[in-house]
Amino acid sequence: RLLIIDFGSQVTQLIARRLRELNVYCEIHPYQNVTDAVLADLAPKAVILSGGPDSVTREGSPRAPDSLWTMGVPVLGICYGQQTMMTQLGGEVHGGKISGGGGTAEFGRAKVTKAADLDLLSGWFADGDEQVWMSHGDHVAKIAPGFEVYGTSPNAPYAILADTARHFYGVQFHPEVHHTPNGAKLYENFVRIAGFIGDWTMDAYKDIAIEKIREQVGDSHVICALSGGVDSSVTAALLHEAIGDQLTCVFVDHGLLRKNEADDVVSMFRDNMNLKVIYAQEQDLFLGQLEGQSDPETKRKIIGGLFIDVFQKYANEIEGAKFLAQGTLYPDVIESVSFSGGPSVTIKSHHNVGGLPEKMGLKLVEPLRELFKDEVRALGHELGLPASFIGRHPFPGPGLAIRCPGEITREKLDILREADAVYIDQIRKHGLYDEIWQAFVAILPVRTVGVMGDGRTYDFACALRAVTSVDGMTADYYPFSHDFLGETATRIINEVAGINRVTYDITSKPPGTIEWE
Ligand code: XMP
Repeated sequence: RLLIIDFGSQVTQLIARRLRELNVYCEIHPYQNVTDAVLADLAPKAVILSGGPDSVTREGSPRAPDSLWTMGVPVLGICYGQQTMMTQLGGEVHGGKISGGGGTAEFGRAKVTKAADLDLLSGWFADGDEQVWMSHGDHVAKIAPGFEVYGTSPNAPYAILADTARHFYGVQFHPEVHHTPNGAKLYENFVRIAGFIGDWTMDAYKDIAIEKIREQVGDSHVICALSGGVDSSVTAALLHEAIGDQLTCVFVDHGLLRKNEADDVVSMFRDNMNLKVIYAQEQDLFLGQLEGQSDPETKRKIIGGLFIDVFQKYANEIEGAKFLAQGTLYPDVIESVSFSGGPSVTIKSHHNVGGLPEKMGLKLVEPLRELFKDEVRALGHELGLPASFIGRHPFPGPGLAIRCPGEITREKLDILREADAVYIDQIRKHGLYDEIWQAFVAILPVRTVGVMGDGRTYDFACALRAVTSVDGMTADYYPFSHDFLGETATRIINEVAGINRVTYDITSKPPGTIEWE
């Protein structure tokens, strides 16, 4: 494996992404945890030191473990990583102004000029200078013994340093961001130098994961909350392949699902894939408790609480269950480096079965813990899940409840389901589904006047929502053509009884959120 020691850069995860794209298995560990003993234990084949917000000139600032330098493995230091490499190996780093040079710091695009040939940079400088992304306040003032300069930029005379005998490399810029267009090539060269052959594929991972599951679970029984989303679907399919009938899934229908969703999910897993699925039809329970509630947080809490109760009730009926399977992904697992006063990472607490394992005395099986979302999709493909399932838009745990602002009624939910189905059908027909991160209809808690035929109508208004996003944390509205919007509005009003007005939500996130509640 390749080890990434995280010094707290905002873009450390991108380093891991670039390496996984090269089919190299890597792990991110916060610098505080990587002691000499941990390093020896991890026994990485190569190490990357990330960037970070601290200054190596500050006393007590983070360092790489000393034993790293005598392990005999290639090391690549990026930005802060380069600076700590220099400091620890006998060079010097200064804060502030570069003597004789220009600015004190460098943020943004810069050009690097080649100083000498370097294997790490093969494929670079084909058209002269290379564009890179810089983001640093400090700079290397004296390079460590054994190092030479291979690239310079106006504000970073030591933009690229290397000790080719020991395979230590340091770059001042960030090759992992897309503003360094040739950055992927640099990582490709680094992993080649380190002797990786790129054998981390989901085809290979499937077999390893199956072995691991069998080892962990033995002949015990496993339960899994199946939502029909990509993560829980792939988890269930993988477990089924590993342990067959030792797995029972619980699919809870809370009455807040999209049109045909419950039947589609249950029939696919039960009939097509032969999984044991308990179909918990609890619509009355959920909708009953939600009656008269219009406060968004109250609605969410009711649904989250009931979900746990219901899941527990069904799980208790499964004899001998010792494990709970969850589709936790790598981005949820990576511990973030936090500095006092530094950036803190907000993690959204969504409704899930968290807390249940302890309460029920269950152990966790999390076979996707090492994977990024696109790897999960690739694994789903290996497991034979249909492409239409793997590519589905995210759907929130509280379901249509948060797309029905205000009070929820069965009438509104039925109208919403129909309108949503027409909208998604339109999007698929126009070939736009895969370009959009998420699309749905929200039914508004307002009736407006309209005229249809010769009569007056007084029906609900709805809002169409479609956004593009990378991770759901920020989003932009999707720029549909006016023709598409017009055609869709006409179809919804013609085909869905109860709606006589259609609007399009053009709010980005922030300031809006993707869902309406
Ligand atoms: P917001 O509305 O916060 O949503 O911009 C960001 C993404 O998260 C989804 N979402 C949820 N997913 N349980 C979930 O599993 C929830 O409670 C929940 N709330 C929002 C939302 O659909 C979007 O993809």
